[in-house]
Amino acid sequence: MRPVVPRALDPASRDALAERMRFYRDLGLTDFYRRDVEPDAAVGDPKLDRSVAEELAEREALLDLAIADAAQSEGAPGPSHLGTAEGKQSNFFGEEPTIKTRKGFHAPEMGAVVPAEERATALQVIRDDIGDCTRCALHSGRHTIVFGDGSPTARLMFVGEGPGADEDAQGLPFVGRAGQLLNNMIAAMGLKREEVYIANVVKCRPPGNRTPEPEEANTCSQFLFRQIDVVRPQVLVALGATAATYLLGARQPLTGLRGRVHAFRGTSLIVTYHPAFLLRDPRQKKEAWADLQIAMKELGLKKAGNRE
Ligand code: URA
Repeated sequence: MRPVVPRALDPASRDALAERMRFYRDLGLTDFYRRDVEPDAAVGDPKLDRSVAEELAEREALLDLAIADAAQSEGAPGPSHLGTAEGKQSNFFGEEPTIKTRKGFHAPEMGAVVPAEERATALQVIRDDIGDCTRCALHSGRHTIVFGDGSPTARLMFVGEGPGADEDAQGLPFVGRAGQLLNNMIAAMGLKREEVYIANVVKCRPPGNRTPEPEEANTCSQFLFRQIDVVRPQVLVALGATAATYLLGARQPLTGLRGRVHAFRGTSLIVTYHPAFLLRDPRQKKEAWADLQIAMKELGLKKAGNRE
């Protein structure tokens, strides 16, 4: 076996990998293992799938950055380098918001199972039903309705609170800074964003990014329930107190709901912190990672950092 020579990375890839490594470090994952391979053989061999070569390069770079990060971390500033959660600032001041009761809420009856090949169309039907919605006050301030994103046949679905400024502008959930962290969380689980499905309790941006009012959330969540029933993920992850409250109907502190599996509409529901909250208080990432590992176990996924 020839010694492995680290491959040079372009600056954008290096930054992305550095951010991923910081995320792993914040989660408490510091040990990485090098797979014994001949990198040149992998890259140069046309018989090998290009994605294998790319993965090898990425793993090598992760290893190098892990070492560089570890070397820098002594005396370096803590995870606060992540800064603040753009577009969600008013909601998160060091703790998840307390959500008012779900007065007037009735969870709709669970929909019939939709065959996998019909799920994309079924989601489009829900989107068409929403139309150019004016059902609640949020419509007046929105730029775009943010319906959802990802695979209609996903085994894993995430539910957030509501669009922020970036999402309102782009029409997609979790595309701002909190979205970057969610992408890292998904990657740390060994998945790609396109493999999961992501939606929110409310589909229009609350003014000033405030927590949705019960009337707004209750009005809009009927569509979320229909999305869940169509996608029928094996595992549903509620991101933060708003998602947990309006899915479970439980007005409990988040800490009482985290760390276990809730049976919910035919799925395993796991409650964890909202990524915007984690950006404000990165010390909780370890806790979030523990929650994600419960989700991974439910899905039969291997722990990141494992050799097997
Ligand atoms: N926060 C959310 O809850 N949802 C988004 O889509 C973005 C930020």
